[in-house]
Amino acid sequence: MRTVLSRCFLSALSVVLISTAVTAQSYIVNSPSGEISAVIELRDGYPIYSLLFRGTAIIGESRMGLVMGDGTDLSSGLTVLKDAKASVDRAWTQPWGEMREVKERYNELRLELASNTSSETVLVITFRVFDDGVGFRYELPDSGDFIVTDDRSEFVLMSDYRSWWIPAFENNRYEYLYTESSASDLRSVHTPLTMETPDGVFLSIHEAALTDWASMALLNMGNGILECDLVPWSDGTKVRGETPVVSPWRTISVSGDAAGLLTSTIILNLNEPSKIEDTSWIRPGRYVGIWWGMHIGKYSWGSGNKHGATTANTKMYIDFAARHGFDGVLVEGWNLGWDDNWFANGSFFQFTIPHPDFDMEEISRYGAEKGIYLIGHHETGADIDNYERQLDAAFEYYERLGVKAVKTGYVGHRTNEFEWHHGQYMVNHYRKVVEKAAEHHIMIIVHEPIKATGIRRTWPNMIAREGARGQEYNAWSGDGGNLPDHTTILPFTRMLGGPFDFTPGIFDLYFNEAGRPNNRINTTLAKQLALYVVIYSPMQMAADLPKNYEGHPAFEFIKEVPSDWEETLALHAAIGDYVTIARKERGGEDWFIGSITDEDGRTLEASLSFLDEGREYEAYIYADAPGADWKSRPYMIDIRKEKVDYSSILKLELAPGGGQAVRITPATSSPE
Ligand code: NOJ
Ligand code: CA
Repeated sequence: MRTVLSRCFLSALSVVLISTAVTAQSYIVNSPSGEISAVIELRDGYPIYSLLFRGTAIIGESRMGLVMGDGTDLSSGLTVLKDAKASVDRAWTQPWGEMREVKERYNELRLELASNTSSETVLVITFRVFDDGVGFRYELPDSGDFIVTDDRSEFVLMSDYRSWWIPAFENNRYEYLYTESSASDLRSVHTPLTMETPDGVFLSIHEAALTDWASMALLNMGNGILECDLVPWSDGTKVRGETPVVSPWRTISVSGDAAGLLTSTIILNLNEPSKIEDTSWIRPGRYVGIWWGMHIGKYSWGSGNKHGATTANTKMYIDFAARHGFDGVLVEGWNLGWDDNWFANGSFFQFTIPHPDFDMEEISRYGAEKGIYLIGHHETGADIDNYERQLDAAFEYYERLGVKAVKTGYVGHRTNEFEWHHGQYMVNHYRKVVEKAAEHHIMIIVHEPIKATGIRRTWPNMIAREGARGQEYNAWSGDGGNLPDHTTILPFTRMLGGPFDFTPGIFDLYFNEAGRPNNRINTTLAKQLALYVVIYSPMQMAADLPKNYEGHPAFEFIKEVPSDWEETLALHAAIGDYVTIARKERGGEDWFIGSITDEDGRTLEASLSFLDEGREYEAYIYADAPGADWKSRPYMIDIRKEKVDYSSILKLELAPGGGQAVRITPATSSPE
């Protein structure tokens, strides 16, 4: 056995013993509110931590430490050389986000550790305990090159927690439907891994500030022990580089209810402040694009009579965007390389040469005239070498043409044939692209990305990413697409990392013209609107074909809903069942509510007490009409206007697979 600990679902009693048996090498760090406590100790040379929430253990005694390529074991034989405590209480402002101001309050413990063989510091472990969770990380002091072959960090569960997860080490990266199961049924899983204890405490294990390191999957070792499983390089090593270096933060978000997870800021707080001083060129936006047409088979990426990215078609999209107040038009399939076998093989992609029927210079001139920017597209087909060879030229080209955002893509099971999308090699590639884009004042939307770990704080041009099953699966997935509960799980799992380019807003729910009898959108129309509020993205797409929006009364909501927020509130939260989010627009007075449900219809009540007292408002309501059902009557929508104020209780009648979207705006005129 690798460990001295006996940890089979520890009883609460054993934890009480830990927290009282304070020795010279045992520490307790409390959150500012006192609700969360991390107990950290060096026992017989093993660094161990456990976590308590309101006095009850939620993570039992868990090992920490690293194993190095030269055989040095930095997870045992350690002693404390120096300990230092610190406290921070401040706030900082996001250039864009779910909320303007982020409070950063934590208590910190930093332990410098020596080993059996060295009296110098060989490893530093730092804990930060916030009111919404705990983070810890490793630091390797200056000692030349290093290789990490194993990260021994454990997360020991106290009982068989209910869990929501997607599998790790599979070919489709993070693009899986979530499974809800007992923790004992986990295999190797990605983070965020979200769990609920039998006492109704919610926790989510993830990481923050994933920089120049391998990402962390979690391996179920049995007996409630989840161990960090670093995604390896193709040669089997996990992390390499030069010291001094810090690992990403291993994080555990904690909340007494599911809603608390939705407004947690620990991931952002554990990232470095912005490296971009002047962020005025980084602006959230809303876009349309030549995109959904390809996914439903109406257009092709490659040349031919179905080619979507033609000059005339792009101008039509620019006109549509300008007419309806959008900021950008995404165009995929504009460049050379799509006619070849690009899937998992991007060697033919040219990032500065358009198809002959796509007049890039004319299109960018036309867009500028109409006040619409192009959102560029770099699909790499996972050929990183081909892309990196062209990176400078590709971004110079787009900057010259006034492109303000670029969507990148990494379709393929491995990159450069052999590397996982989640290993250190790709962590560094994704970052290189974000930094290169920043040099050219370009925002980045990544598909097939590395998971979101809050890097947007440090690089605010990292504006949005995929990294889950998005809307596109409804267009072509062999399993019929995303089930109605998928979007009721995402806010508590994938979204804890940050914004998601889900691309909501499909109005033609069956897209029959494309001849896909086995695919459709598995929601009601009203739920498509509600997703604009529930699934946060600072770059929000109106994904459907323009003709499906023109003249549609529900399109009004998409035209009004912003993508940047002053404040966010979680009104209802039940993982896999329903979610209601209210957000106040940045720089305005309007509030927006999105409420969604799984396959079960339900009625929820939302108090509007967040509105200004003594002020009258008008609520524009987009609700499932009575009798609506995602399966057979998904289009039945009831659009109405009501007077509301801070004392109103809004009834949210959600159809099976349905939702409701509401815009609340201060009443301007005298009562009608
Ligand atoms: C997969 C992306 O998720 C999708 O949005 C894109 O259209 C295709 N790759 C082609 O790049
Ligand atoms: Ca994708």
